[in-house]
Amino acid sequence: MYDFPMYIGGKPVNKEEKIDVIYPYTLKKIGQVPKGSPEDVKKAIEKAKIGLEKLKKLTAYEKYKILLKAANILENKKEEIAKAIVYEVGKTIREARTEVDRAINTITFSAEEAKRIGGEYFPTDASPNGKGKKGFYFREPAGIVACITPFNFPLNLTAHKIAPAIAAGCPFILKPSERTPISPTMLCEIFLEAGVPEEAVSIIPGFADVGQEMTTNPDVRVVSFTGSLKVGEIIAKQAGLKKLVLELGSNSAVVVDEDANLEVAAKKSVLGGFAIAGQVCISVQRILVHEKVADKFQEILKEEVSKLKFGDPMDERTDVGPVIAVDEVNRIRSWIEEAVEKGAKLVKGGIACAEDKTVFQPTLIVDVAEDSKLFYEEAFAPVVTVKRFKDIDEAIKLVNKTNYGLQVGVFTNNIKNAWKFIENAEVGGVIINDIPTFRADHMPYGGVKGSGIGREGPKFAIEDYTEIKTVIFDLNA
Ligand code: SIN
Repeated sequence: MYDFPMYIGGKPVNKEEKIDVIYPYTLKKIGQVPKGSPEDVKKAIEKAKIGLEKLKKLTAYEKYKILLKAANILENKKEEIAKAIVYEVGKTIREARTEVDRAINTITFSAEEAKRIGGEYFPTDASPNGKGKKGFYFREPAGIVACITPFNFPLNLTAHKIAPAIAAGCPFILKPSERTPISPTMLCEIFLEAGVPEEAVSIIPGFADVGQEMTTNPDVRVVSFTGSLKVGEIIAKQAGLKKLVLELGSNSAVVVDEDANLEVAAKKSVLGGFAIAGQVCISVQRILVHEKVADKFQEILKEEVSKLKFGDPMDERTDVGPVIAVDEVNRIRSWIEEAVEKGAKLVKGGIACAEDKTVFQPTLIVDVAEDSKLFYEEAFAPVVTVKRFKDIDEAIKLVNKTNYGLQVGVFTNNIKNAWKFIENAEVGGVIINDIPTFRADHMPYGGVKGSGIGREGPKFAIEDYTEIKTVIFDLNA
């Protein structure tokens, strides 16, 4: 049983009122954390002001060393934290270990970036009124950062927000998903143990009222949110003059061109479609396949989906664990029914396992109409759809047809078609000959349209967590 406090300015705080943490596989309670309030956020902000001053006194080298130490402590606790991730998310133990490895990487990249936050000299006299003047700019911490993280990668997506914040010299206040507060709290404890000034570290589990105070309080300078488009839009409306980083999901497509390696495309699409039971913003949701190779491709795909083992996430052999909650199972089922009513064919899955209520069978559904939710909304489920296209222009149109635009994968050996996608796909990332689910933790990651604003990846997050200060010397005086 996990029983953690919240932390306000680095100090543990407990409360009568608790949030229960439920293991999605058994639906049993496995832990609890205090339920935070807007008052707690206000207290954390007062502490964070002290934290900001303390962080300003640290050298770049000191921040680098602290973050490296945090990465090392995490490495030593890898199995313990991986298990906590399985219990709070329901992802498989293999996926949880990968998440811990990725978080170690994210923190290490952030440590390295702490040494590279610089500026640039510029020729002020390139402008007629700049004669006799010299200028440069550098980056300063933007101030207090509010971080709001989702359930699907509770450790690594938290690391993606709080490690660059510390590298940039910004204190943070973190609201983890109320479903998965355990591993984010463990990570905050590691940051404190590694030597981050305590006032710079606050974690307040809670609900919308906590989020609202974090995103509207004028003393918060940056809001970094990963979650749904609906909540992202609310935050964008209420945040006012703050810097915003919004990672809002997608219904990512894979395009399989007529000359693609079908085996590779099918195997990778299955990996990308069913990892973490499809609950990834860059999951493969829509496979668009050239009509000339569609029958063959669908056959291989069906075979690959049939090989997946689903069920107990603690079993080392399991490929697909449960989804986060029973409500989600009902939603997925209704979306599949809608697609079938509109003419789609269910090829595999489509139902939850009778004995494990939240384990939804890996589902393959073909010929999905464009006005089906499974095509234009974000499914966040172990469901992969297939649709045929006639030529590459039609494939580009289908990719762009939805309100989302995070990443697209394009399997092709035709360099002109690859380039057409690079130029015309309305997305933040084009992955040639791999799935949209590819992410290396130092690359710029983020979307366009309904998929959000800004980019993550430590170097890019630091740009959002800092303000440029310009300096001009007048040598005429
Ligand atoms: C996400 O679901 O937004 C993150 C995906 C990843 O980090 O792999």
